[in-house]
Amino acid sequence: MRLYIDSANTDQITRLNKYYPISGVTTNPSILVKEGKPYLEVVKEIRSIIGENKELFVQAIGETAEEIVEEARFVTREISGNVVVKIPVTEEGIRAMQLLKEENIPTLATTVYTAFQALIAAMAGAKYVAPYVNRIDNLTGNGVRVVEEIAQLFKIYNLPCEILAASFKNLQQVHDVCLAGSETVTVAPKIIGKMIAFPTTPTDVNDFKNQWTTLYGVDHTNL
Ligand code: E4P
Repeated sequence: MRLYIDSANTDQITRLNKYYPISGVTTNPSILVKEGKPYLEVVKEIRSIIGENKELFVQAIGETAEEIVEEARFVTREISGNVVVKIPVTEEGIRAMQLLKEENIPTLATTVYTAFQALIAAMAGAKYVAPYVNRIDNLTGNGVRVVEEIAQLFKIYNLPCEILAASFKNLQQVHDVCLAGSETVTVAPKIIGKMIAFPTTPTDVNDFKNQWTTLYGVDHTNL
């Protein structure tokens, strides 16, 4: 299992990257626009925070395959390190995935709502597919079930494509896709913070500390 931060906020990325076993950062146009700065400036800052090896995802906004390929070449030239280009699952997007595969530029198929969209993207050479779990749920679908189906299809057809489940509203959805076979998840900062939170943990820690210091004092090396 690998965990990605779904945000372009550099303060939050700095904090989460310090404490959590993060494999990279995913952005999309809405996430970048929120920062109110030129997007290249933001993604380059993110790169300097996470280092060269972790994956950084940037979405193409071009409509035709040629425009998408041009953007993919541009971002992978401008941004150092491990960059993955997110491409929406449209006919032009599917064509761009195949063209970029020939150039060895890694892609992620985004805006995935059905197992078939994921299957075609994987056949086109995408490295990842991103099912939008909460957005599927909002349409009275079942986001976790879609992830399960994708995992099953990739296994049956032995496709070398990973699921990067995205669009979560709560921790239960993240929990369920991890069990459904998603190799990776991208999660907003406020939900990552909840992953290790449990009310009795700080109480237990406090009790241990109080009992210890009663006898041994406050020197933490006094074991
Ligand atoms: C991944 O990067 C997706 O774009 C993102 O998770 C979508 O999340 P949302 O449905 O909360 O906008």
